[in-house]
Amino acid sequence: MPQKRRKILVTSALPYANGSIHMGHLVEYLQTDIWVRFQKLRGHDCTYVCASDVHGTPIMLKARELGVTPESLTEKLSAEFVKDFHDFGVDFDNYHTTHSAENEELVGSIYATLHDSGDIYTRTIEQAYDEQEGMFLPDRFVRGKCPRCNSEDQYGDACEVCGATYSPADLIDAVSVLSGTTPVKRESVHYFFKLSEYETRLRAWISDAKLNKNVLAKLEEWFEAGLRDWDISRDEPYFGFKIPGTDDKYFYVWLDAPIGYMASFKNLCDRDDRFDFDEYWNVDSDAEVYHFIGKDIMYFHTLFWPAVLQGAGYRQPTSVFTHGFLTVNGKKMSKSRGTFINARTYLDNLDPSYLRYYYAAKLGPTIDDIDLNLEDFMARVNSDLVGKLINIASRCAGFISKRFDGRLADSLPDTKLFSEFSNAGETIAAQYERREYSKAMRSIMALADKANRYIDDNKPWLMIKDADKAADVQFVCTQGLNMFRSLMIYLSPVVPRIAQDAREYLNEESWQWQDSAAPLLGVQLPEFKPLLTRVDADNVQRMVDQSRNSMPVQD
Ligand code: MSP
Ligand code: ZN
Repeated sequence: MPQKRRKILVTSALPYANGSIHMGHLVEYLQTDIWVRFQKLRGHDCTYVCASDVHGTPIMLKARELGVTPESLTEKLSAEFVKDFHDFGVDFDNYHTTHSAENEELVGSIYATLHDSGDIYTRTIEQAYDEQEGMFLPDRFVRGKCPRCNSEDQYGDACEVCGATYSPADLIDAVSVLSGTTPVKRESVHYFFKLSEYETRLRAWISDAKLNKNVLAKLEEWFEAGLRDWDISRDEPYFGFKIPGTDDKYFYVWLDAPIGYMASFKNLCDRDDRFDFDEYWNVDSDAEVYHFIGKDIMYFHTLFWPAVLQGAGYRQPTSVFTHGFLTVNGKKMSKSRGTFINARTYLDNLDPSYLRYYYAAKLGPTIDDIDLNLEDFMARVNSDLVGKLINIASRCAGFISKRFDGRLADSLPDTKLFSEFSNAGETIAAQYERREYSKAMRSIMALADKANRYIDDNKPWLMIKDADKAADVQFVCTQGLNMFRSLMIYLSPVVPRIAQDAREYLNEESWQWQDSAAPLLGVQLPEFKPLLTRVDADNVQRMVDQSRNSMPVQD
């Protein structure tokens, strides 16, 4: 099956550096990491970059509230993100920040190209302004009564009670969230990108990008409503990059954030000459580029971003992979219920392999939401990962080390059964490739059932007591360990830590997907150490309690 070595660049959305990484974010970072590890295991040239998204009003205000600079706030949070991701096994090839020299330069040159080709114009708009704070207010910083249903305390852009959308000026008794004063209307010159002229070109990209059908349906809705030009500037005070040629205008965070994908890659290219920026971003590049994102940021990634790239003369993403939102125990994550769980709180209590497996068992290629049900989480991990998979090795390893000096037999007693395991490789690979992780996990667990049945049928624990059969136990256990080994290779993108320990037990230097095709025979194995323990309900409870206690109650 010699296949072409693909060049693939993969990104996850850049997390906002104004709060901690939580279970919801991890759906995305784990989904992406599994895909990247899978591609690398298949021998492809796959590069995974990310960065912290550090610009914008909320981050500026948060820093002000804490009495620190936005630079120092976002650097501190980024350092925490890097640790959290590392401890969850999310293995970026580069992690950068949007507040970087590379990004400022790319943003400047992309803007200049768009400007020179006539894609940018200015227009005076009216906006809510807080006179006491001396700043324009983003819609979310104005609250008041809904003009449609009169519900109190609604945001300036939409009513959470009746679903109406409107502008802050329509709110009844509007107040600024910052000062509590009544905002006034004030005019200001803004810079716009002519998105409205990109419909035909975007449709051409969309038909190539093989987007999921729910995403296509959403895009069709947006096209029908008509694409509106995009306001890419913000007035000071703002934390961001200044628009060249102005003294008080900044690029809107959503213009520089996706350019941050390129900038992070650029940063990698500049310090590692195995990577060539143009090879991936030139308009005629034959590399593949994929963005993993959540469904809340689809508009930015499927309309603004491909249009900006096209206008600026770069290649567009090969595709955008969109996932749904996480609920915990069937509901939105909630601080009062203790289900708003930070990455670090999880790590303080539980093994990351559990969550990696659980998310994989739930994830598909659609934008359907996924639920982390804590009871189901324990049951699923204990029965599949520990009870079925790891158990195969535990049932065989003891006999090999105690009765056969740690040596595997020189041949398999049931090569036909083994080839069922190796033949499944291509099906499982196709499932990973299509991001059908839940299907891949089912395929793997069905094989694990088969392996356990083989051991049950042969009953090595009885054979060993029978002088005529005792020697055959080495063959049965070699068969068992080889089935385990194939499954561990298939599962290694999901549970890399366990796979590494299993590989070290099997005395192998490295694994590629293809290694599952041939059995491991006649080798000497070290002592077997338990690879994973069961999820302990007390630890899950402690994690929930800590999540409830550590945060102010506010949903
Ligand atoms: N900074 C922007 C992305 C810029 S990309 C150029 C942003 N940041 S975020 O921190 O709010 O979210 C990062 C990613 O995590 C997004 O793709 C978002 O959809 C995802 N998730 C955040 N909360 C989530 C859940 N509760 N569930 C699933 N994914 C979620 O958006
Ligand atoms: Zn309303």
